[in-house]
Amino acid sequence: MHPVYILAIESSCDDTSAAVIADGVILSNVTATQDIHDLYGGVVPEVASRAHQEKIVPVVSAALQRAQVTPQQLSAIAFTKGPGLLGSLLVGVAFAKGMALSLKLPMIEVHHMQAHILAHFIDEPRPQFPFLCLTVSGGHTQIVKVKDYFDFEILGQTIDDAAGEAFDKSGKLLGLGYPAGPLIDKLAKEGRPVFEFPEPQLPGYDFSFSGLKTSILYFLQKQQQLDPNFIEDNKADLCRSIQDRIVSILLKKLAKAAKAHQISEIAIAGGVSANSGLRAALAAYGQKYHWNTYIPDFQYCTDNAAMIAMVAHYKYQRKDFVGHEVAPMARMDM
Ligand code: KG4
Ligand code: ZN
Repeated sequence: MHPVYILAIESSCDDTSAAVIADGVILSNVTATQDIHDLYGGVVPEVASRAHQEKIVPVVSAALQRAQVTPQQLSAIAFTKGPGLLGSLLVGVAFAKGMALSLKLPMIEVHHMQAHILAHFIDEPRPQFPFLCLTVSGGHTQIVKVKDYFDFEILGQTIDDAAGEAFDKSGKLLGLGYPAGPLIDKLAKEGRPVFEFPEPQLPGYDFSFSGLKTSILYFLQKQQQLDPNFIEDNKADLCRSIQDRIVSILLKKLAKAAKAHQISEIAIAGGVSANSGLRAALAAYGQKYHWNTYIPDFQYCTDNAAMIAMVAHYKYQRKDFVGHEVAPMARMDM
C-alpha cells in the first residue's frame, strides 16, 4: 500500500501556506507571509486576497517539491473553509476546487480554529483527551475543552478584542509596526513590569481586552503630556508590562477552567502561543498546578498549512469529504 498523500492549503488571513502530509506525517510546510500589510498598520482584506492570488501557485509548487510528491500521487486536497477573511479564503477554496477537479480527487474542508488545536498532534508529546486548549490568535481567544479529535466544547471566549488584537493594538499605540505581537515579545525581554494595567473582572471563562487597550491609550496620553519622549524612553518596560498583563488575564482564566473541570492536560495554540512570556508563564503554572503542558513548535503556532493537513489526515480516515458546491465562510461554528 502506498502512503495517503494529502495536500493542504491555508489562506484564511495574511499567510499563504501549503503542506503535504503522508499518513499523518508532515513532509512539507511552506508559508509565504504577506509583509505588505505593515505599510497599512493592519491586514487590508482586498490586498490580502490579491497577495494570495500571486502566491498560491509558487507556494503549492514548493510544498509538493519539498515533499517530493507529484500531483498525481495525491489522494485528497484539503483547504481552510473558515473562519477568516472571505476574499482570502475564496482564493484557497477556488484553488483547491480547481486542483481537485483536474486530478479527480476528493476535497476535505477544515475549520481554522480546530486546526490550531489539532496542531498538537503533529509532533510528540500529544495531549490526552480530554484536554483544555487556550486558543489565542489575531481573531480568536477561546478556552476549548477538547474531548476527541472532532468533539469540542467552547468554555469561554472573548467578548470583544482577541488576545492577538490586544498585542497588535497596544503595539500600534507604542508606534510599533504590524503585527506588533512579535515586536512586543522581543522588546519585553529587555523590559521590567513596572506599569500596572487593569485586569477586567468578567465572570466565568470569558475574556475582554478592549478596556485594557483604552486604559493603555489614556495612560500614554497622560504621560506624554508630562514628557513627550515617554514612550521612546520607556518602550521596553511598557512592552513588558502590557505583555505580562495580557498573559496574566489569559492564564488566570485557564487555571480557573482547569480547576473547575478537573483537567490537568493543558495546551495553548494559535499565533499568540508563540509569545515567550505566555510560554514561560504556562510552564510556571504547570509546575504550580501539576499540569502536563503542551506548547506547539513555533512554526505551528502562527497560521500554517501543516495544521490544516493534520485535520485533513483525521478527516480522510473518516471519509469526511465535501462536494464542489462548498463555499468559504467568514464566520463558522466549531
Ligand atoms: O494564528 P495567527 O497567525 O493568525 C490568526 O489566525 O489570527 O495569529 C496572529 C496573531 C497576531 O495578532 C500576532 O501579533 C500574534 O498572533 N503573535 C504574537 C506573537 N507572534 C504572533 N503575539 C505575541 N507574541 C508573539 N511572539
Ligand atoms: Zn490562525
